Amino acid sequence: MNLILLGPPGAGKGTQAKRIEEARGLVQLSTGDMLRAAVAAGTEVGNRAKAVMEAGELVSDDIVIGIISERIDEPDCENGFILDGFPRTVAQAEALDKLLAEKNKTLDVVIEMQVEDDPLVGRITGRFTCAKCGEGYHDEFKKPARDGICDKCGGTQMTRRADDNEETVRSRLAAYHEQTAPLIDYYGKKGVLKSIDGMKAIDEVTSQISTVLDAV
Ligand code: AP5
Ligand code: MG
Ligand code: ZN
Repeated sequence: MNLILLGPPGAGKGTQAKRIEEARGLVQLSTGDMLRAAVAAGTEVGNRAKAVMEAGELVSDDIVIGIISERIDEPDCENGFILDGFPRTVAQAEALDKLLAEKNKTLDVVIEMQVEDDPLVGRITGRFTCAKCGEGYHDEFKKPARDGICDKCGGTQMTRRADDNEETVRSRLAAYHEQTAPLIDYYGKKGVLKSIDGMKAIDEVTSQISTVLDAV
């Protein structure tokens, strides 16, 4: 099964993608994570993306389409994948349709995570991640059982993203509304869109997604 998690910054795409990955053996493909890895490694793509990401704007379509096209060809994607943060523009969605057709793959469902803007700022400014295994946490909504120690791997180094400050979050939300929200209509017309309430607690969101996926 191949699916898209669609929603604004802080909607919970990454949190839920990791859970679907574990529960169903699909692989999470997060363009944001891939770009951050490229920035950290200082590759050419990373150098081109860094300032754009720190400003909360979108990286160019050709860069992310290229990244996804290559990634989908890897063997671990054969069982299915979860697109997290891609596509983000109509041009990316059209390119994805074309790519999938060429590769003989289908898009089974697009899950729109419906959330309100204001609480997202708090979700994002409170977010931190285990540097070792990538598990995501939150100062208020998802604290590790023991302060500063990752529940999953015991790692003790936690990181915060360079773009997780209030000012950049506002730009990211604006980019979402202008450039990404039109995809709700795009996938609605194709008949693959399902919407869930992303304002509920993390576990409740997981069970709504699970219900949708069980019906696919
Ligand atoms: P990306 O990394 O995709 O960031 P984003 O879309 O801004 O989304 P986030 O990762 O911030 O949010 P999320 O929905 O994953 O939330 P999470 O689960 O972590 O992209 C970053 C940048 O890269 C972009 O701005 C752009 O520059 C570039 N980029 C990436 N893809 C691109 C593309 N396709 N085209 C062009 N440019 C691209 O949750 C957030 C926090 O809230 C966590 O702390 C979590 O614990 C907590 N939380 C989650 N769910 C709940 C809940 N239900 N209740 C309470 N708290 C919750
Ligand atoms: Mg994310
Ligand atoms: Zn960890």
